[in-house]
Amino acid sequence: MPDKDRYAVFGQPINHSKSPRIHQLFAEQTDQLLSYEAQDVPADAFESAIHVFLRQGGKGLNCTVPLKELAWQRADQLSQRATRSKAVNTLILQENGALLGDNTDGIGLVTDLTKNHQINLSNSRILILGAGGASRGIIEPLMQQAPKHIIIANRTVEKAMTLSDEFSVLGKIKGCAYDDIKNSQFDLILNATSASLSGKLPPLADNILAEKGCCYDLAYGNKPTPFMLWGQTQNAEKSLDGLGMLVEQAAEAFYLWRNVRPETSAIIDLLNSERT
Ligand code: ATR
Repeated sequence: MPDKDRYAVFGQPINHSKSPRIHQLFAEQTDQLLSYEAQDVPADAFESAIHVFLRQGGKGLNCTVPLKELAWQRADQLSQRATRSKAVNTLILQENGALLGDNTDGIGLVTDLTKNHQINLSNSRILILGAGGASRGIIEPLMQQAPKHIIIANRTVEKAMTLSDEFSVLGKIKGCAYDDIKNSQFDLILNATSASLSGKLPPLADNILAEKGCCYDLAYGNKPTPFMLWGQTQNAEKSLDGLGMLVEQAAEAFYLWRNVRPETSAIIDLLNSERT
């Protein structure tokens, strides 16, 4: 029997990662012979873990919290979207031994919004909550959908300003404080803060979601996040979490590694049905 190509996700904590399951399902669906494991890797062990993984024949890696910026620094080459986002979630071993870094988070989000949920982003007023690594990864792919504008609100206003300065060459984007948006209206509000991870909600005013507007939390869990529940109280047409984005970013990584595009909808349905 031929050896299986090896892939893995590195991060910490990693024990609840759904990525091994998702990639196993992709491999079965597309008849690809590969293995995919989750490895608990803290930041200070990242370099040595990569070294060992490549020496043992690893072909590609996903990197998650807290390693995305380190992976960006470690990559020998970067895709354009990874260059700007300063974060890498996918490393691809090239034939010459170089590691190519890419970021599939943003395209995963856009695919979930536009294809799976039929949310039209063109000319829409988008609000992104948070100005950390998660926000960085999604701005360029969102801009490519030609929204009317993107506003980034953050507790620490300076971080939102820095981000908007960096991405202003791509389109209309502005950074501000939560207080500055209380009289505005948005068609789509994306929660890219880490607040949901601690069961918290960013300080949002009521009535900033436009009629027929949608809410999307980049985080996901078995239960609706506080932000999804907030969206429901604001009569959001859809109030979604990031499970679809997780599967779509994985599909894009799988495509980069194997040159085969898995079909995602049955897998999203399956994972949804397993929520308890
Ligand atoms: P990530 O890489 O997941 O984006 P991060 O870089 O630590 O993580 O960024 C976390 C983001 O969530 C930040 O924008 C943070 O706001 P500050 O920059 O002001 O710290 C935001 N955040 C975390 N908890 C929050 C909360 N309870 N309410 C609002 N924003 C929160």
